[in-house]
Amino acid sequence: MEGVLSEETSDLKKEIQQLSAENERLTKFIEIGEAIFVERNIDQLLPLIMSKISKALNADRSTLFLVDWDSMELWTKFAEGLESDRIIIQLKMGLVGVSVFTRQLINVTNAYQDPRFNSNIDQITGFRTESVISAPFFDKGNEVMGALMLLNKKTGFFTKEDEEKTLETASRLTEMGCVTDLDKDKVKPLVYDLRQSTECERGSLFLIDREKGELFSLVADGLEGHEIHLCLNLGIAGLVAITGKEINIQDAYADSRFDKSKDERTGYRTRCILCVPIKDQSGEIIGVIETINKKGGIFTDSDKDLLKALSTFVAISTENAILFHEQHRQFKRILEVLAASIDAKDPLTAGHSQNVTKYAVGIARELGFGETEIDVLTVAALLHDYGKLGIADNILKKPGKLTPEEFEHIKEHVVNTRNILNKMHLMRKYRDVPLIASCHHERLNGSGYTDGLKAHETPFMAKIIAVADVFEALTSKRYYHEALSPEKAFDILKQDVGTKFDENIVISLERYWYKKL
Ligand SMILES: [Fe+2]
Repeated sequence: MEGVLSEETSDLKKEIQQLSAENERLTKFIEIGEAIFVERNIDQLLPLIMSKISKALNADRSTLFLVDWDSMELWTKFAEGLESDRIIIQLKMGLVGVSVFTRQLINVTNAYQDPRFNSNIDQITGFRTESVISAPFFDKGNEVMGALMLLNKKTGFFTKEDEEKTLETASRLTEMGCVTDLDKDKVKPLVYDLRQSTECERGSLFLIDREKGELFSLVADGLEGHEIHLCLNLGIAGLVAITGKEINIQDAYADSRFDKSKDERTGYRTRCILCVPIKDQSGEIIGVIETINKKGGIFTDSDKDLLKALSTFVAISTENAILFHEQHRQFKRILEVLAASIDAKDPLTAGHSQNVTKYAVGIARELGFGETEIDVLTVAALLHDYGKLGIADNILKKPGKLTPEEFEHIKEHVVNTRNILNKMHLMRKYRDVPLIASCHHERLNGSGYTDGLKAHETPFMAKIIAVADVFEALTSKRYYHEALSPEKAFDILKQDVGTKFDENIVISLERYWYKKL
């Protein structure tokens, strides 16, 4: 009797433990969901998160810095006590700069006694820094993205335990999407987590591509490495994506909305489905989360709550990513239209800007440029001749030799390019584009125009565009010459290597050109 009782008690204990673990998970998700529901915008959420971090580490203030490697600056994503202002400091300065450069956590008890400390920020804020801890955080490629800094531990100094906590929090911030965009690697553990907690066989996350009228899988269990595309008006996921209403089906094969054909193809047997929409800040449906086959039963209301909380969490990161991609896509389109508008001026040179861009990017890849640099080069190359819009047609299209006056007028196109591009106020990353684009007629020995810059004075990307530009012009038909063969064009370029053109760039173009064939 006693044995049975104690067995029952231990069963009961286990059940309570399981329940409380489940409850904890549910509460965690709902808490995140609620916080985000109130403050969907991460910038509005950050003050809350940062004040929690300060509290958890018993510090007076916390600051989140991001690195801009282009300008070698650190700027505050969020600084407690300085919410409305943004601090920008030189990367090499201060303790935070050191922790970013060395990729190491820094723990200092008395800042004013540390020679690396930069007291400028204290002067701006009127705050007196005593103890400091600064932990770098990294992106997927292990590049430093920024640092989390905490100031003035209330008990005097930061301990070893605080160091670990700060590092962990810093990496958690990147995971949460506070400083980075959503990607599959980040969503995957969430879906896996969800599969565990709802005890289902499969979990998938689909996003809507409205242009194509379809859903595509960001994460799909059982189909790793493949992206699934579903028609937006088909199946349960499609229905949820269109209506925005969750669907909980207990017996899929008895439900006419379910499409059995996929199961027939794959041999998988779907029993029950729970599918909820993912909505953005404005309430627009951006995707769905679908779980299939609850182990040993059907999906409950608690599963539904979990899924809804998760969908809110996913929504925020997804929205950021979508906005970013849309902005990027829009920017690219505007660029192409701009480039096409120069080409439209003259059918004979149509495609020149696109071709120059293609060759310039080919050279850059041969030279091992990174994607960010290639982006900058692309914009500069596409728009390098934009100023030609201001040049009279009768001169641009003149078949014969230009008079000195006419040539002077043609030369103005680079200054026009620079002026127009400067007025465009391109995004930070493209800050040097006006300069790069407008130096494409400069030559190494200073014989080019407009400023007669020498090799060391000309941006390297401008030297790439110069070579790509001349090669394109030589190999295409012009009013004043027929199209030359690439071999002949390379011969001409090579004659001017070292005087007008950079040798490495010409060699890289040749390598790219013959690889392409
Ligand atoms: Fe030009």
